[in-house]
Amino acid sequence: MSESDNRFPPQKLEPIKVELGERSYFVHFDEDWREILASYSDRKIAIISDRNVASHHLLTWKNILPNAVDLVLPPGEKTKCSKNLEEIYNFLVAKNFSRDGMIIALGGGVIGDLAGFAAATFMRGMDFVLVPTSLLAMVDAAVGGKVGINLPLGKNLVGAFHQPKAVLVDFQHLNTLPVRDWLCGLGEMFKYALISGEIDFQHILSGIEKCKPCESWECARNIRKCIEIKAGIVSRDERETQGERIILNFGHTIGHALEAATEFHTFCHGEAVIAGMAGALFMAEQRRILPTDDFHRLLSTLSKFPFPTFKEMVTTQQLVDFIMHDKKVQRGRVRFVLLEAVGKVRVVQDISDDELSSAVTFALNFVAHR
Ligand code: GLY
Repeated sequence: MSESDNRFPPQKLEPIKVELGERSYFVHFDEDWREILASYSDRKIAIISDRNVASHHLLTWKNILPNAVDLVLPPGEKTKCSKNLEEIYNFLVAKNFSRDGMIIALGGGVIGDLAGFAAATFMRGMDFVLVPTSLLAMVDAAVGGKVGINLPLGKNLVGAFHQPKAVLVDFQHLNTLPVRDWLCGLGEMFKYALISGEIDFQHILSGIEKCKPCESWECARNIRKCIEIKAGIVSRDERETQGERIILNFGHTIGHALEAATEFHTFCHGEAVIAGMAGALFMAEQRRILPTDDFHRLLSTLSKFPFPTFKEMVTTQQLVDFIMHDKKVQRGRVRFVLLEAVGKVRVVQDISDDELSSAVTFALNFVAHR
């Protein structure tokens, strides 16, 4: 058997173009990265990564880019903060980077968002390329140009829209992904399955059961499908002003509040979004816009995701307070993405305080009582 017969996925996946006029770029799958990056060979390149990812993959990328310098940060959501942003700026200055340099963000959503925001702002903006190494970053965070950092008062409260020059998806990175991160990525894929109706739930369910990255052709195709859905939405509504991109925030309003209320160390992003989707499904069912049978069926799939033990005393009111700092609040009213049916969403802005509190309480109980 030749080396190529062992590769996952077994067939080549076509690149996806994110159509944004002169800021268009491609998401590539398992290509010859030296060839893809050849046009940047005369640039100064900084690879930004985290310790976990770097221990497995930094050497490979240093071999591809022998002249690149690297900065390795601690892993975890808490890394996405102003202190580490400043560390990246200082590193770039110390290494004499100017605006024509380039950042390669090698990591999951945290590294992509943080390094991307450094690229958006250092010397008023420089180019960057994303190499998403987690399932969650592949299917969501790496596409669409949302970059930023967290504040203690909330998730992603400081940021920019800054599109990468390219996104390089290498499925080999999934082989070293911890199981918890794999499940978080499946949670985000479940979001795409719900809002688009174009992804088979069965694949997600079997991914939860197997509890390890599935090296199936179907899995690779589903990852590509999520990216294709997102690329289309981003092309039509890059800055979330046309009412379409907001649907990607399904489950994120309560999810972001849960992450912030637990100081970004109890829940991974994907886990918080799973809880947030449970709260959003509950709200839709209570409003009678999602049929009760569908609510129970979808909730039972969400219940299959494991959660970390949850010891913090987080109250409904605390989460509601975090939600009121969310970017989706307009004129004091929170916008919520609700599901009417698989593949059909509705954005509502007339949520009463009681309704919000009930949905938040439901989400809290969903993660606490299992
Ligand atoms: N993760 C949501 C978005 O990129 O719009």
